Amino acid sequence: MPSTVVIGGQWGDEGKGKIIDILSRKSDYIVRYQGGNNAGHTVVIGGEQFILHLVPSGILHKGKVCVIGNGVVVNPEALIVEIENLKKRGIKVSSNLFVSEGAHLIFPYHWTIDQLREKAKGKGKIGTTKRGIGPCYIDKVGRSGIRIADLMDDKLFRVKLKDNLNEKNRILRKAYGSKGYSFEQMYKKYCTYRQKIRKYVANTTLIVNKALDEGKQVLFEGAQGTLLDVDFGTYPYVTSSNSTAGGACIGTGVSPARIGKVIGVVKAYTTRVGEGPFPTEFSDRLMNIVRNKGKEFGATTGRPRRCGWFDALIVRHSILVNGIKEIVVTKLDVLDDLKRIKICTGYRYRGKVHRTFPANIEMLFRAKPIYEELPGWERDTSGITSYNRLPKNAKHYLKRLSTILDVKIKMVSLGADRKQVLNL
Ligand code: GDP
Ligand code: IMO
Ligand code: MG
Repeated sequence: MPSTVVIGGQWGDEGKGKIIDILSRKSDYIVRYQGGNNAGHTVVIGGEQFILHLVPSGILHKGKVCVIGNGVVVNPEALIVEIENLKKRGIKVSSNLFVSEGAHLIFPYHWTIDQLREKAKGKGKIGTTKRGIGPCYIDKVGRSGIRIADLMDDKLFRVKLKDNLNEKNRILRKAYGSKGYSFEQMYKKYCTYRQKIRKYVANTTLIVNKALDEGKQVLFEGAQGTLLDVDFGTYPYVTSSNSTAGGACIGTGVSPARIGKVIGVVKAYTTRVGEGPFPTEFSDRLMNIVRNKGKEFGATTGRPRRCGWFDALIVRHSILVNGIKEIVVTKLDVLDDLKRIKICTGYRYRGKVHRTFPANIEMLFRAKPIYEELPGWERDTSGITSYNRLPKNAKHYLKRLSTILDVKIKMVSLGADRKQVLNL
């Protein structure tokens, strides 16, 4: 079956961009299916860094078709800037990029509402990326959203924008004491975006299904991670889309019967950005060591990422809900200097031991991790090019992960560069 879904198995930033870039070599189509420019996917090629937010991470290879599916929420300004920046760096972006006419558009009132809601929540905030992602998906589900197809039809767009601004301005003024937006200004701005994005807009459901009919290799690029999925994550500390493998079908119009396999990308430890429970989170000393060595600062917002030990409960949960048969372990090199390394294999809560991931958020906030401790390898692995050359204790760590998770490890990543990867 020529299709593969790649998803994040933790709280995002697992290194999906790097792995998608590598897997793109053997793919024909690379398709984003959910999220928006809250994503930041990094690819490093010979020391040169690219951070993709909306454009699929396959764009850096010649001759590949990249698709932004209907499930993605598109900030047209961010898309235009991203395309222009890629072009300035010599990357071709023209007939190799398609954007779904069914994708919903993000408007400035979405960012404003995102920011104001977070502010109003105070301590209970989610810690969003403030890109308007949640409010845009709220409008989609609330049936008032504006899709790219609507923008392409001037008459329809005027009506929809007017309706939306009427409602949004009332909310902004009455609930938040904010100024609101002028119709004319926003309308004009979006008409200029229309001209700039028109050439990419297409019926991407037809395009991707046709590619599959022709036996082409299609790679679905997940954004965020399983624990940020609105159904399977640490709700309400999640994003507003289905970042799990099922989202690939809804977000593109490809049937589940056409999905071949699902690959999970997981870090050799755990990170999360924003608020919410994180049972294996480090205390200060280890936090600083791992954050600095792993350069754990958000690719989208620059915020420091919270870091912790590998949590097998959350990854087992990911394996289950995504149907993962193979994982890629990234950032193993970040653990190079540590004497002892821990894997969380259970949670203790109110005197009981739990071995499966709980939906109860209070329990996740209070759970005490139960660890298995392994010896570190205390050697630099970043230049290693074959699995056999890995230090004995690094192999032992990987084997323990594979056994505890009951899953095959397909690749191990030992540095940010495209070349720093081992195939197992
Ligand atoms: P994504 O959102 O899942 O694509 O991940 P991000 O790009 O947000 O974050 C991953 C970060 O780790 C980026 O800075 C990558 O360049 C970097 N990275 C990816 N794989 C490795 C690795 O194996 N080792 C190290 N040290 N860095 C890596
Ligand atoms: P990639 O694709 C890590 C987090 C935010 C916040 C929560 C909700 O690079 O892995 P949102 O703006 O989506 O409403 O924020 O989700 N978040 C991410 N964390 N990586 C991401 O994307 C993320 N996208 C959103 O920090 O906790
Ligand atoms: Mg990221």
